[in-house]
Amino acid sequence: MDTRRDVTTRSAAERRRRQLLPVVVLGGGLALAGCSAGAPSALDPAGSGAGRVANLWWLLFWISMAVFAEVMAVLAWALLVRRRRDVRVRHGQPLRFVTVAGAGIPLVVLVTVYAVGLRDLAALGDDPDPRAPTIEVTGHKWWWEVRVQGVDGATANELHIPVGEKVRVRLRTADVLHSFWVPQLMPKTDLIAGEVRETWLHAERAGNYRGQCAEYCGTQHAHMAFRVVAEPRQDYDAWVARLAAPAPAPRTDAQRRGQEAFLQGSCAGCHAIRGTAANGRIGPDLSDVGSRWSIGAGAVPNDGGHLGGWIANSQTVKPGNYMPPQPVDASRLPDLIAYLQSLR
Ligand code: CUA
Repeated sequence: MDTRRDVTTRSAAERRRRQLLPVVVLGGGLALAGCSAGAPSALDPAGSGAGRVANLWWLLFWISMAVFAEVMAVLAWALLVRRRRDVRVRHGQPLRFVTVAGAGIPLVVLVTVYAVGLRDLAALGDDPDPRAPTIEVTGHKWWWEVRVQGVDGATANELHIPVGEKVRVRLRTADVLHSFWVPQLMPKTDLIAGEVRETWLHAERAGNYRGQCAEYCGTQHAHMAFRVVAEPRQDYDAWVARLAAPAPAPRTDAQRRGQEAFLQGSCAGCHAIRGTAANGRIGPDLSDVGSRWSIGAGAVPNDGGHLGGWIANSQTVKPGNYMPPQPVDASRLPDLIAYLQSLR
């Protein structure tokens, strides 16, 4: 056996592996970075609230970089210059250096950050105009109930705001602690049992902004997302009008059969559909369920297949949620889906 050749081949393979490693690390990093595309980032603010937080973040970042550079420079000096030459510290010099670098600079940094932080805290706590629209949001395990003050209607996991206007958001929880967070619009506000908390939303540009519960609240905390739609004033007004109006009546035979199945089955015991006998208050109001961006507060996309799967057994989609598996006759499921998708 040619041992030398064997060793040579092995070391060549080893070399190739070593050369490949940076490519794998870089490629993997880039691939993972791709996951963040479209993910909400507090560093990509779209409103004045998140803008303040982002500015504060960058201020802290650059201060940290400056402190890091200063420490590295002093370390380099100590290792390279100080060691080589016989530098004698003259009387008074070390004290001055320690006073400036160790106490003076940190004091200036801390006072500046504290002052800027207090200014931003006051601005974020500022009440919107008393005439501003008020959206009422209630956190449930694990979805968000959304209402507009003065309007008799509800939706779930989606709220609309007019672009460029500061909108008040009144927060309650029906059970445990949750936290209302729209990274691109506003920092977190906790929902505390027995309390009514307030925050506001302001978007400078139209768009859909993802929100997320930011306080661990149980098994499905991760699937407690919502969407904020910032749109021109007339579109916002149309949304409020839709919220108050009865749900659209069924137009096809399949939809009619679906409505019948909904009202006769157990669905209506927990869910409401405006303008029908369904008036349950345990689960989300379904009057506009066909227009929603997701099923189960961000658990799965809102399409026929997922809707059918959810109705039949939502426990396989979002385990632990409060909707038990439904004994729906398979022949009636397509009608039920057709009816629910027509509600928009
Ligand atoms: Cu609600 Cu986490």
